[in-house]
Amino acid sequence: MINKTTVNTIQKKYENNEKITMLTSYDYSTAKYVDEAGVDMILVGDSLANVILGYDTTQKVSMEEMLVFVGAVARGANRALVVADMPFMSCTASIELAMLNVAKMIRAGASAVKVEGCSDYILEVIKLCTQVGIPVMAHLGFTPQYINAFGGYKVQGKTTSQTMQILDSAKKLQDAGAFAVVLEMVPMESSEYITKNISIPTIGIGAGPDCSGQVLVVDDLLGKFSDYVPTFVRKYADLKSIITKSVSDYCNDVKSGNFPSVGESFKLSDEEKNKLNNGAVRC
Ligand code: KIV
Repeated sequence: MINKTTVNTIQKKYENNEKITMLTSYDYSTAKYVDEAGVDMILVGDSLANVILGYDTTQKVSMEEMLVFVGAVARGANRALVVADMPFMSCTASIELAMLNVAKMIRAGASAVKVEGCSDYILEVIKLCTQVGIPVMAHLGFTPQYINAFGGYKVQGKTTSQTMQILDSAKKLQDAGAFAVVLEMVPMESSEYITKNISIPTIGIGAGPDCSGQVLVVDDLLGKFSDYVPTFVRKYADLKSIITKSVSDYCNDVKSGNFPSVGESFKLSDEEKNKLNNGAVRC
């Protein structure tokens, strides 16, 4: 019997001061391996806009596209808590549309959703989701869906007053019912201060070691996505080299006749082979 991770598991880890692990995944088999390796939460991040679909910003991925990946990850993850990222404008055009979109994510297999920012709309969506039993993860600091307002990829909370603004937002999100908050690209001292002054877990990405947990984009961790690699990423593998070398070896083997071998081919029985070679069957 698989012990499914729930928001209660996350809350217990937080209370016991145990670090929480989260990683993105976008497809069935990666989600399966990430799940088997023991991560607490799998985020189907809208970062898939960049690393899977090749868009230049996360604003370009649609609800319909996200749903395909949420379904695939949910089918691969037996144990980890699957969190679906609500894409750009899916929660801010109207409350009704937000709730319908959240419901679609849950029906696709997610057990929680993540929303960026702290607008009145977002706070209302978190309150309504909490009332109907849908756990919501919040996201502050650098929130990629607001890239045009930030004017690029910029560290947030670099001054005391900005840190206090992030803390204020984190408290509002917590009071609305968020079960955790991602802090992205925030100085380590600021995220430590925020973490100490709220009562839900902080999940850091480029936010230093003192958050309650950490998240990374799986393609960054595995060295698969190479268009740009943020300085806060630790690369645990170099899949790009493994993929390009394997594909080049395959091409060389096909060209030289080294692939496929007899063992990699199907064979006729001796009887059928003899018939074929003796011309027993005429077309
Ligand atoms: O979309 C994503 O992958 C994210 C993480 C970077 C937190 O939001």
